[in-house]
This record gives sequence, structure tokens and C-alpha cells, in this order.
Amino acid sequence: MNLKDLYIDFFKSKGHKQIPSAPVVPENDPSVLFNTAGMQPLIPYLMGESHPYGKRLCDYQKCIRTNDLDTIGDAYHHTFFEMLGNWSLGDYFKKEAITWSFEFLTSVLKIPKEKLAITVFAGNELIGEDKESIEIWKSLGISDKRICKTVDDNFWIAGEFGPCGPDTEIFYFRSDDEIPEEFDPEDERWVEIWNNVFMQYNKTKDGKIEDLPKKNVDTGMGVERTTAILEGVNDNYISSLWIDVIKKIEEISNLPYSQNEKSMRIIADHIRTAVFISADNSLIKPSNTDQGYILRRLIRRSIRHAKKLGIDINSDFMKEIALVIISKYEKYYKELKQNKEIVLSVLEQEKIKFNRTLEKGLREFDKNTKNLVDNKIDASLAFRLYDTYGFPIELTEEIARERNIEVDIDGFYQKFKEHQEKSRTASAGKFKGGLAGNGEMETKYHTATHLLNAALKKVVSEDVHQKGSNITSERMRFDFSCDHKLTDIEKQKTEELVNKWINDKIDIIKKEMPKEEAIKSGAECMFIEKYPDMVTVYEIGDFSKELCGGPHVKNTKELGHFKIIKEESSSAGVRRIKAVLEEK
Ligand code: ALA
Repeated sequence: MNLKDLYIDFFKSKGHKQIPSAPVVPENDPSVLFNTAGMQPLIPYLMGESHPYGKRLCDYQKCIRTNDLDTIGDAYHHTFFEMLGNWSLGDYFKKEAITWSFEFLTSVLKIPKEKLAITVFAGNELIGEDKESIEIWKSLGISDKRICKTVDDNFWIAGEFGPCGPDTEIFYFRSDDEIPEEFDPEDERWVEIWNNVFMQYNKTKDGKIEDLPKKNVDTGMGVERTTAILEGVNDNYISSLWIDVIKKIEEISNLPYSQNEKSMRIIADHIRTAVFISADNSLIKPSNTDQGYILRRLIRRSIRHAKKLGIDINSDFMKEIALVIISKYEKYYKELKQNKEIVLSVLEQEKIKFNRTLEKGLREFDKNTKNLVDNKIDASLAFRLYDTYGFPIELTEEIARERNIEVDIDGFYQKFKEHQEKSRTASAGKFKGGLAGNGEMETKYHTATHLLNAALKKVVSEDVHQKGSNITSERMRFDFSCDHKLTDIEKQKTEELVNKWINDKIDIIKKEMPKEEAIKSGAECMFIEKYPDMVTVYEIGDFSKELCGGPHVKNTKELGHFKIIKEESSSAGVRRIKAVLEEK
């Protein structure tokens, strides 16, 4: 039986009601484009509202994360994924939650308990160590050495504020090696499969922790990862969830997956997400804004990769792949069945549009660039190609480059801005990049992440890139690409360099410019998709230039003393630094 069915049946047998998955486009939350976690649609109920289905709930929830499209193509990242969850809204608490998690894993999924290990909350100045969870795990036969206490990794919050609490994470030993007696969460053979959050607090926008009216349990287990683990495969795309889709792409392209993994994964992933977005009852269509823009980019990117594999892009390839995806999921998501024709037509129309845009625009391009005086495409032509022929400016630039022609990019953005001001919509607010908390400490930490990013590049390697960050008023967390554990010397030098820049009292310079220009000037940017066409760039000295929504301090001297608290693994090829700013 399928993991989702086993999970739902199990929690139903423990008195839970199954609730339907909420749509991928949140119904009542304009602050996010897509639903990103199982608990998100339940926030009002976790805050105390009573739920029509009662106090014990379970579901599988559709989630979409498109922040980092560049990671798609590896073995385990997806833009769409499903999260299994069970909730107690002021009903059972730690004992039942942990005991049932253990029972489900060991009795239903038949995972030997020797392959499991646990992290629990170690306690901080506000909340004590989670002794209760430790005792419950021990009573279930988990040895002391397989229980690890951490502070930051065992406190869960979805962003900067809202319901939160200590959690206990369950890890599985994904390797044929002998299982070490002592559990080390940094050992990458241990992978997290399930999180139980004991949600009893609410963090307010000004950073205060208050008790929630009722204590809740919120759990989350990723379907893709757990399925791959149960099936003993190291590549999610060859698990039973994906293999039919991959086989279809092999058949259409007449190429083997083993030599074309990246493009085939991108095609499979992007078409699956496009199917779910366009099947959603909000009936999103490809466009140049918000969810529609993401949908357009996903479809067009999958077409580009299909072209790379030599697939005839005028054929029905997208429809064939989409049909395999729909047949695999329609049992669980009735909207796929109901809106099947809509989905197929969205994919088809966008494909036609993409092909047509290309051809007509190219003709216009050629006609107008035959007799250029100064070998430069002026702003009006660039804007006409964009506005009338749907050429993204990047495309115009690319074709121009091939023909050794320049493009007046600044002029284009000037026109673009004039046009945008005429038709500005409220949606702009959604793209205010970065992090939500705007208190004084958060602002300082925000600037500190830029210094740390720059220092790591100088000390460790030019190839260090930011992969994520998380800021509270007490500390910062910074994830970055790096293939090794930092040495003590590297850590020390990084810390010294950041403090040197703080002592150098450098002004932070803020500039507005078109996104393209910012990228060209070498400004760093983590989530390019998230930014509008005009962006803010923050420069510090000659060593840091980042595209960022802010806010930042005016001068580095305001930061105090920078100190690295911990350096650890975050995921494969990604390291995590926790650091604090102290008063000097
Ligand atoms: N909300 C928790 C998580 O996403 C369960 O890990």
C-alpha cells in the first residue's frame, strides 16, 4: 500500500479526521504566493480558532517552493512536494504524538528501531530542556546515545513570527554501513524524516514569546523522501512516485535517463508543478505577475530542456507527460480529474504561445536590425519586442549577443518603469525580498549576513554562495554552499575579517537599478525569481554587493562584535553558521 494511504489509515485509527489538502494558492493569505508547509493552512486553528472537523486532524498537503529553481535537477529537490501531517488542536500532546510516530514507523512501515535516531530541544534561557520527550523516547526503547539535544534545530517556527515551539525530529540511517552506536546529526548518512512540533507558543511581530491558548501538536513528513527511503533508492526520481514519468520522458526522447538526468528531472519536476498550479481551483493562468509568472517560467523552462533533449517541441510531449502525472495523482486530488482539460489546455496554449512569440518576434527583430546605424537596439525596439511580442528582455539580449549587436538596457528599463507606473498593482508588495522582522537587532543581523557572506568568499572560497538565512532578534543563521567542514583557522579568520570591517566603520550604500543591470554588475542574489524588475542593491566597501530588500544599518560600526557560535552541516554540500552580535 502507498505511504499516504498507510499514514491516513493509521491516524484515523487513532481518532483523527482526515482533512482535504488546501489549494496550492493560499485562499486567505496574500503574503505568500504558494502554500509551503502542511501547517500553513491550519494557522488560525493552531492560534485557537475551533476547527469544524474537531481536535485531531491528519492530511497530506500539497506544497510548492520555487525560491531556488537552480537546485532542481539534483536527486531530491522538487518545486512541488507533499507533506504528511497529524495535528492535535489542544487535545493530545507529547506522549501520544511521539508514541504514535514510533508505532507508525516501526509497526506499520516496519522500520527497525535501530535505524532511528532522535533530536530534542536542549533548552535556552526562555524554555527548559525537553525532558519529557527524552523520557518518552527512552521508554520506547531508543537508547540515550541515539538522542541528541540541540537548541536551534529543535525550535520550529514558520518564518519570523506566528505559532511555534520546541520539536523533536526523527532521523533514519540511510546507508548500508554499520550503524554507529552514537548518533551525530551532522553525519549525512542520517536523514531527517519526520518532525513533531509541540506548538505551545506564539511569537509576536515585536519578538515576544507568549503562550498559546491551547497546546498543539504539528507534525510533518515529506512524502518524496520517505518513499525513496522505504524503497531503498538514493534518487527520488527512480522511486515509484516518479519512475513512470521518467520512463515516459525516455520513451519520448529516445534517450536513457542515466545520461540525461538533469534535463529529465527538470522536465518531470516542472511539468508536475505546472499541472498542480493550473489544476488549482484559483485557476491561475500563465502571465507576467505572481503565481502566473512562476507557472509561465516553469512551463517555458521545461520546454527549453525538452528542446535540449532533441524532443520535437511541436509534438504532444507535454500533454503525454502531464497525463502520466495526472493518472498517478488523480485518486488523491480530485481537482486534477475535474480540471484535467483546463490543465492540458494551459500547457498547450503556453507552449503554442512560446513557439509563436519566438517566431514572430524573431521576424520583427531581423527586420529592424538589418540597417542599424550604431549597431545598437534602442529602447523603443527592445520595449516593443517585450510588449508586443512577449520577448523577455533576456531573450532579446541573448539573440543580440549572437549577432554582435548591443541593446540599450537602461533605456528599456526606463520605458518599462514608465509603463509599470501606469499599471502598478498591489501585488508589488509580495516581492519585498528578504526577511520579515524589522526590529533594530534584526536589521543589524541582516547587514551581518552580507558581511559574513563576503568574508566567507575571501577566506574559504570564491565559490561560496548563500543558500539561506534565518534571523531572530537573538541570533543569525546563515547557510552557504561549501564542500567541507570549516577548519578552526577558517572560522577564526572569517570572524576576524567581519570584525575588521565593522571596526573600519564603512557606510552601507543603497542603489536602485534594473535587475539585469544589478546581476551584470556582479551583485549577488539568492532568489532571482523573487525580485521585481527594479531592485535595490546594497554595497559595502568594495567587497560586498547584494541584491536585497533590506533593511540595513547605515554604517557597519553599529553592529558591535561578531561571533560565530557554531558551524555545522545543513544538507549535502551546504554548511550552516550560527552567529551572534554582542555589545562591544
Ligand atoms: N511544521 C513542521 C515542519 O514543517 C512540522 O517541519
